[in-house]
Formats: sequence, structure tokens, C-alpha cells
Amino acid sequence: MTIEIRAEAKAKALEICKAGFKLSSGHNIPAIGFGTWALTPGTDTVEAVKCALQSGYRLIDGAAFYGNEISVGQALAQSGVPREELFITSKVWIDSLGYQKTIDAFMKSLRELNLEYLDLYLIHWPASPYKHPNWERLNLETWQAMIKLYQDGYIRTIGVSNFKELHLGALMETQVQPMVNQIEIHPGYSQRKLIKFCQDNNIVVEGWSPFGRGTVLSNNVVNDLAKKYQRTPAQICLRFARQLGVIPIPKSASMDRMSANLDIFDFSISNEDMLTLYSLDTTKVGFSGEDPDL
Ligand SMILES: NC(=O)c1ccc[n+]([C@@H]2O[C@H](COP(=O)([O-])OP(=O)(O)OC[C@H]3O[C@@H](n4cnc5c(N)ncnc54)[C@H](OP(=O)(O)O)[C@@H]3O)[C@@H](O)[C@H]2O)c1
Repeated sequence: MTIEIRAEAKAKALEICKAGFKLSSGHNIPAIGFGTWALTPGTDTVEAVKCALQSGYRLIDGAAFYGNEISVGQALAQSGVPREELFITSKVWIDSLGYQKTIDAFMKSLRELNLEYLDLYLIHWPASPYKHPNWERLNLETWQAMIKLYQDGYIRTIGVSNFKELHLGALMETQVQPMVNQIEIHPGYSQRKLIKFCQDNNIVVEGWSPFGRGTVLSNNVVNDLAKKYQRTPAQICLRFARQLGVIPIPKSASMDRMSANLDIFDFSISNEDMLTLYSLDTTKVGFSGEDPDL
């Protein structure tokens, strides 16, 4: 059974797509996405993704590692949202790096999602010089598999996740450069130097854990600004990402919260208040502790 997409949600989806960015692949990416990590496979995931689509999200961020791609695929099929309006992402997990393993992992995700192509496919984490012998070759072989899938028309846009400048270097020398880098970004961990490097190199940045998995939402500075702007702490975090030129990917299992998280396009945070939010970097509030080189 398909769900009814209300006119209001259709208008919201259009607004989000218009506010998005043009990728170097020539395709457009919406200005905000919906995260599916930690959604339990089965009804929880199906209902959450359907609610997200009903609220107006069109970018759905998934990964093989999340273990719920079959349920995400079921939600997409039941949603009634035309395929061309959707922007579906998956990622190849670290244990599938390498040319053939990446091709196999991609085909498995495609099958589980029950789709004919993906809008975006990312290398979830880089092989690191501190952890993997031949790390650079492993990343390059993986990237060559991504290029092959891209050139064969299975993926519209290819990119990476959690790559720092060092990991990006070799990939920038290939025939197709990364078009997206998805990294942790929130007040407390703004990664502005890496964002600037990506943007200078035509790589669009997505921000994962925009609420620091919820912890940033109870921070006093964020709450004071929420009162000042008459917004929720979550909206302050999402607007913060937006003003950094980043596409935030919030996750919520509640339709009210996922819907409210989309209302970030009708206000702006002053430069002075952005500086106050940057100052939280020194506290590292909400930082996951996840670093590819640690
Ligand atoms: N590439 C990577 O390595 C990587 C790593 C981590 C995450 N990600 C992606 O980024 C997505 C988001 O990150 P995340 O799931 O780690 O954390 P997050 O989005 O920063 O935080 C999610 C938490 O915030 C709560 N929340 C959401 N909206 C809220 C609101 N308006 N008010 C109060 N609480 C709210 C959620 O609770 P409720 O569900 O109860 O609302 C949940 O506990 C993931 O789902 C995944 O798609 C990617």
C-alpha cells in the first residue's frame, strides 16, 4: 500500500531540493538528509523512512553496515514517491575495501534496496596509514571500483566518508575525483579546515551526527541561542551546518521531530553567534571519538 504524500510535504521537499547543491556529477543533492543508522531492521526502519518521506525528506542516508537496507528498500517501494525524486545513498564498509569486494558489496546493497541505481555511493571509512599496510593502494583499488560502477551507470555520484586530506590525496589524482565527503560535523566538532579543503576542491560536504548523537542538544550555549532565535536546539545545530555550506543528515525516529528538523530555511544565525558556536570546538562536546587514524 502506498502512503499519501500531503501537498505541504511535497512543497517542503521541493524547497529542500531547491536549496541543495549541484554536484560535480551534474546531479543535484537536497539541502538536508535523513539518517538511518541505529534504526532497527523491520517495522521500525520501514515506518521511520516512510515518515521521513511523508515529512518531505528525499535524501535517505544508509549503509550496508547499518544492516537495515532491506527495510529501507521496502519503505521506498511503499512510499509512492517517484524514483527520480529520491536521492538514495549507501556506503561500502571497511571490511569490503578492494576492487572486487567493493563491486560485490555494492551489488548486494543494490539488491537489498531493490533499486536499479543509487544516487550516491560512498567509501564509509578510509584504510588508514596507521592501521593498514598498503592503505593507499587499498583506497585506490576501492575507488577504481567506484569509478567503474559510476561509468557503468549504476551510481549517479561517487564519494567518500571520513576521509581527511591525507586520505583524499591519491584519489584526487584519478580520472574521476570524489564528489562528496561525509564527515562528523556539529557545534563541538566543526572540522572547518577539512570543510574548506573539500569545498576548494569541488567536493560537497555532508555532516553526520549533526546533534552529536543528541549530546549537543543539552549544551548551554546551544540552548541559549535556541531561546534567542526562538528555535529548538536541534534547529540551531542544523542551521549551523547549513551556514557552513554543509548538508546535515539528522536521524530521528519521531515524526514530529523529523518534521521540525526540516524547518531551518527561514532564519539565519548571525556571524557573531556562529563564532560563539565555533568556540565549542575547544570543548569537543558531542565528539564521537571516531577518527580513521586512531
Ligand atoms: N558516515 C559515517 O561514518 C556516519 C557515522 C554516524 C552517522 N552517520 C549518518 O548520520 C546520521 C545521523 O547521525 P546519528 O544518528 O549518529 O546522530 P544525530 O542525528 O546527531 O542524533 C540522533 C539523536 O538525536 C535525537 N533527535 C533527533 N532530532 C531531535 C530533536 N529535534 N530534538 C531532540 N532530539 C532529537 C534522536 O532521537 P529520536 O530518534 O528519539 O528523535 C537521536 O537520539 C546517521 O543516522 C547516519 O545516517 C554516518
